[in-house]
Amino acid sequence: MNNSPIGIFDSGIGGITILNSIKKILPNENIIYFSDNFNSPYGNKSKKEILKLSVKNTKFLIDKGCKIIVVACNTATTNSIKELRSEFKIPFVGIEPAIKPAAMQTKSGLIGVLATKGTLSSGLFGSTTNDYASEIKIIEKNAEGLVELIEKGFIDGDKIEKNLKKYLFPMIDKGIDHLVLGCTHYPLLIKTIRSLIPKNIKIIDSGKAVAKQTKKLIEKNNIESNLIEVKYSFYCNGSPKSLNMILNNTFAINSI
Ligand code: DGL
Repeated sequence: MNNSPIGIFDSGIGGITILNSIKKILPNENIIYFSDNFNSPYGNKSKKEILKLSVKNTKFLIDKGCKIIVVACNTATTNSIKELRSEFKIPFVGIEPAIKPAAMQTKSGLIGVLATKGTLSSGLFGSTTNDYASEIKIIEKNAEGLVELIEKGFIDGDKIEKNLKKYLFPMIDKGIDHLVLGCTHYPLLIKTIRSLIPKNIKIIDSGKAVAKQTKKLIEKNNIESNLIEVKYSFYCNGSPKSLNMILNNTFAINSI
């Protein structure tokens, strides 16, 4: 038994999609969320920079007493999870694009992956693709500019639509039947994405899988919490505007 909080970090508000899945299946856990939005976006940064920021974010959450860290960012996970696991004793849960389920289910043999440059160029993405998708074709798109727009508060409207069309339409033309959302920010655009792509294309994200893995690791390490009343705390090091928007102003945001 351990009533310490779960720590979650992302480069911004994308990880809130993961927090929402975790809250559902772990309702007795306190959670601390950290948005490193001062350094957002991570997508075009080097592996070295991403690793440095991930270490800093982890230390922040450990200092706040977290018992497990969820790296709710594909870019941070694919560029730093191995190093984080060897540097810190605490358990880590990471997130990477859900290539495996898409590759197993595709009928057309073509899947689309929307992610950041940092994720698509990472060694982990390369090895996952080799392991699970060597028989199929992956159409990758670095969705440049989307994270910035989302952090500015755009989750629908003309700008988002125009950007998405640029990345999605070439994939649709090539005949994908699965679209993998390889960045935790993108599920926030689900309504627009759904409206732009044909119904037969299945959209896959890793949110639920990450929540399940978090539960599994908490049980395995015997660190479940038995709280009846839980507390969710939010921190950011840039403007609190985006967190306030996504949380509908229902929580006080701690600026650091
Ligand atoms: N949510 C992050 C991810 O999953 C966004 C990356 C970025 O900051 O560019 O990749």
